[in-house]
Amino acid sequence: MSAPRCDITLTVNGETVVETVEARATLVDFLREQLTLTGSHVGCEHGVCGACTVRVDGVIVRGCLMLAAQCDGASVETIEGVSDTGEIADLQAAFEKRNALQCGFCTPGMLLTAQELLRGGGGVPSRETIREQISGNYCRCTGYQAIVDAIEAVAQQRAGGKP
Ligand code: FES
Ligand code: FES
Repeated sequence: MSAPRCDITLTVNGETVVETVEARATLVDFLREQLTLTGSHVGCEHGVCGACTVRVDGVIVRGCLMLAAQCDGASVETIEGVSDTGEIADLQAAFEKRNALQCGFCTPGMLLTAQELLRGGGGVPSRETIREQISGNYCRCTGYQAIVDAIEAVAQQRAGGKP
């Protein structure tokens, strides 16, 4: 017997997408396998590592804990879309400059999670707040020092302070 499927219409990175998905397909698998948006990664597959982070209706979610079918009518943004708009260009540059990535597996989720904090306004967050914000995004390579440095530098830049 074939798996149940359903039709969904959603916006992905600003473009309307109409697809048929398996009812059990996760959002991140749908994005990667059906739409070939492979910037979102699949790590733990149970909501722990943050590698699958994407935005749904403006809020970051775990793409492995949400079904594609639940996104019918939603606006989904992936690292590809957020990169293309230039929204996180400063964060990307800071990560590169400060060696805040090695393999890059965690980086898309890390960037989206950092941006969630920084775009909320509220001035320059403390390093403790930054650490807490990214505590749900696991990095296997760099240690978090450089990542926190990069996020803090961008927060200062955006606040008009020194890099
Ligand atoms: S793959 Fe989704 S949180 Fe790890
Ligand atoms: S850069 Fe390798 S997991 Fe983070």
